[in-house]
Amino acid sequence: MLFTPWSSQAASAVLDATCEKPGPVLISLQALQNEFGYVPKEAVEMVAKACNVSRADVHGVLTFYHDLRTSPPPKNSVRICVAEACQSVGSRKLVEDAEKVFGTQMEESNDDIELKPVYCLGNCALGPSAMVDGELIGRATANDLHHLVKAKS
Ligand code: FES
Repeated sequence: MLFTPWSSQAASAVLDATCEKPGPVLISLQALQNEFGYVPKEAVEMVAKACNVSRADVHGVLTFYHDLRTSPPPKNSVRICVAEACQSVGSRKLVEDAEKVFGTQMEESNDDIELKPVYCLGNCALGPSAMVDGELIGRATANDLHHLVKAKS
């Protein structure tokens, strides 16, 4: 995934377009993450000022939603559904296999890859489900995920 390098000027332009909308804090944080790949700590004050809320309000939203990140993302992100429907069709085994294939543990990341759990991707009928850089995969195997990551790298 390609993101714009962080700059306060570019962030200001993003915030100009989001702070007038309803629910401006979450929308602004999402927009910043879409633009830069993450929301750096210095953005908290900018969002607070732009949306006329306290830094605590912004920090609360930023830390509540697990999809919002405060550090740059790795090259590829793999999310594996570990909710009940996917567990019943093998997501635990998929997690074990993916940890071996990628050489990292669930909820860990390095510069190249992160493995994270997710609790339902809305693809329950085709479980176990996973997502690679936003692309949904049904009946996933660790090899499927590995090939897709390689193709996207
Ligand atoms: S439980 Fe895995 S996609 Fe819904």
